[in-house]
Amino acid sequence: MNKSDMRKLFVIGMGPGDLGLVAPNALAALQHCSDLVAYGYYLELLGTQLMQGKSHHNLPLGEESNRARLALDLAAQGKPTALISSGDIGIYAMATLVFELIDRQLEGREKHPEWLEVEIEVIPGISAMQAGASRVGAILGHDFCTISLSDLLTPWQTIDKRIHAAGQGDFVVSFYNPVSKKRDWQLNHARDVLLQYRPATTPVLIGRQLTRPDETIRLTTLAELDASQVDMFTMVSVGNSESRHIVNGQQEWIYTPRGYSKKLA
Ligand SMILES: C[S@@+](CC[C@H](N)C(=O)[O-])C[C@H]1O[C@@H](n2cnc3c(N)ncnc32)[C@H](O)[C@@H]1O
Repeated sequence: MNKSDMRKLFVIGMGPGDLGLVAPNALAALQHCSDLVAYGYYLELLGTQLMQGKSHHNLPLGEESNRARLALDLAAQGKPTALISSGDIGIYAMATLVFELIDRQLEGREKHPEWLEVEIEVIPGISAMQAGASRVGAILGHDFCTISLSDLLTPWQTIDKRIHAAGQGDFVVSFYNPVSKKRDWQLNHARDVLLQYRPATTPVLIGRQLTRPDETIRLTTLAELDASQVDMFTMVSVGNSESRHIVNGQQEWIYTPRGYSKKLA
């Protein structure tokens, strides 16, 4: 073990699920680590060989802040540790909690001065919206935004305001957390808001379990989008008013033009 690894926390995004889409830097960092802190499902997806010889700390969903605390504690004890999320760990995932805890410690609201001795390195991963976009061509080809439809931590009024703003700005929108076991009406509401700003025929991608063995891809239109077509393993990208759905025999694609049409003419 390198001396600089003595108090090291790697904050790693493992990509959407396919081991081939994990960054080489992430795999190299995992080799250094003695301890992995992650929701077990993500590691199962990537295969057990990644976990061999390492202590796996599998805190359940809902235990996010304890997971971040544990990762900082382990790293502060001198165990090179990886805190792992799916997709990109900076997008609706664990990285922000780590820095919130560090911020709180810096302000004296935590009692863990040892956390400030930990060297933190964030390693990015491919997010679900990118995995989905690659499956259908280039739906994120122009300005886009992501909106999480989970109102667990964000007031619904804020989410609603952002959907309207995305509609007014004609952004391609990727919806994360479109439904959960306890909530199912938000996606249809979001659809109805966007229909105020863009055509009913706007192309939509519904990507479920992207890059995983049971992946499904569905192309539809904004008017036909319905919450019954999604679950919590699904990401929905809605094109902007210029996005196009094209079919070439067996292959079909969605792309969002960048304005090359005049140059191509
Ligand atoms: C808490 S967010 C985590 C996002 C993740 N950090 C990322 O960058 O993809 C969970 C939501 O991400 C989306 N998601 C994550 N991985 C996915 C995948 N492989 N296929 C489809 N949607 C996925 C779903 O909308 C899911 O409800």
